[in-house]
Amino acid sequence: MHHTALIFACILLVQKLRSCPVKKFRVYCPRPSNAANYSVAWWNYSVAWWIALRVALDARNAKQVVHVAVSFQTSQTILSGGVIEVVAPAVYGFSCDAADGLKLFFAGLQSCETLDEGFRLMLNQSVSPGSYAFLIGMRTPSFTPYTNLFDLLLKDLEGKVVDARLALPGPRLIPGLTLDLPVLTFARSQPGSDAEIRVTLKVVQTLDPLQVLGPFRSVQIAVPERFTLIVREPVTNYDGLPTPEVSWYHLYFLEKLVRVDLVADGAEEIPQIPAKDYRLGFKVRLPEFWMPSVNVWTVSLCRDLSCSDLITSLPMAGFEFGDPGFEQEEAHDWWRVGGSEVALEAD
Ligand SMILES: *[C@@H]1O[C@H](CO)[C@@H](O)[C@H](O)[C@H]1NC(C)=O
Ligand SMILES: *[C@@H]1O[C@H](CO)[C@@H](O)[C@H](O)[C@H]1NC(C)=O
Ligand SMILES: *[C@@H]1O[C@H](CO)[C@@H](O)[C@H](O)[C@H]1NC(C)=O
Repeated sequence: MHHTALIFACILLVQKLRSCPVKKFRVYCPRPSNAANYSVAWWNYSVAWWIALRVALDARNAKQVVHVAVSFQTSQTILSGGVIEVVAPAVYGFSCDAADGLKLFFAGLQSCETLDEGFRLMLNQSVSPGSYAFLIGMRTPSFTPYTNLFDLLLKDLEGKVVDARLALPGPRLIPGLTLDLPVLTFARSQPGSDAEIRVTLKVVQTLDPLQVLGPFRSVQIAVPERFTLIVREPVTNYDGLPTPEVSWYHLYFLEKLVRVDLVADGAEEIPQIPAKDYRLGFKVRLPEFWMPSVNVWTVSLCRDLSCSDLITSLPMAGFEFGDPGFEQEEAHDWWRVGGSEVALEAD
């Protein structure tokens, strides 16, 4: 076996993978160290990551638990007894504790095990081709590792890799992101009903554009598939998040995005955001039959007003039908909207 050639081929492949987006029909690259179990397989993959990382500036917040969302799509079937394994740099300490955020949006988790490098989910139900997602808690390391790459492996009962995605670039740690995990609440959870969704941004230390995090100009919430964003209803800013007086929110029907501006234009001075919990409310129609397989909502902080320059996206676990929602305080006549893209602005 020509190990040098193999390693070289792997480096080439990894570099190619790093530089190109998701491609189908890639040859799985065996790792020289434990090549025995890494048979060459064809794979069809699509893996997305959301990770909320922050570097604590004060010791109080060191080792903060953050939520990592993993979603993947596979064309393979993994029978009961299979394993989902994530190989991560050793500085990332994952937690299998549900209180730290472990939540699968599909059935069949038998157990979860943390590893020196990553973690492993053991399944007792089969996974058929499709899209899947889960959230897991992770303790923030104090630095972004130089080689910040993750592997996602789907293995069968015998430990053979059935499908995989290698060398996924991890997000960088964001210094000065003094936010606690955002919270998602919902008015009700009956299938097909209209419900207000509230996202709470928890600012634990004043966000000052001159501080290390730097300026951000808008906040964007992404609604998962199967939900309908009700764009005829306004966004409610319950707790005085600093925004312009008018035209401060935008609802995008097709993209299922809610965006809130902190400034009227890119040139305007950016306000400080005092430490406080800020709730933003908007309306959605729940799915009629099934919750999305990737039941993850995200809230992003953006440097610009069009939110093309994201500082970070924080994942929030979605809810299930029948989960208790908060009581509705006001009754509204809700407008039903269908059809084409609508961008509404407040006036
Ligand atoms: C390799 O596979 C064997 C069974 O085929 C298993 O016992 C062993 O734990 C696997 N090794 C690794 C590193 O996954
Ligand atoms: C990969 O997906 C394509 C369709 O997108 C399918 O035709 C093909 O059989 C899949 N390959 C494997 C190995 O499952
Ligand atoms: C899978 O494992 C979980 C946790 O041990 C258990 O609660 C569940 O009943 C199991 N499901 C099946 C189908 O065996």
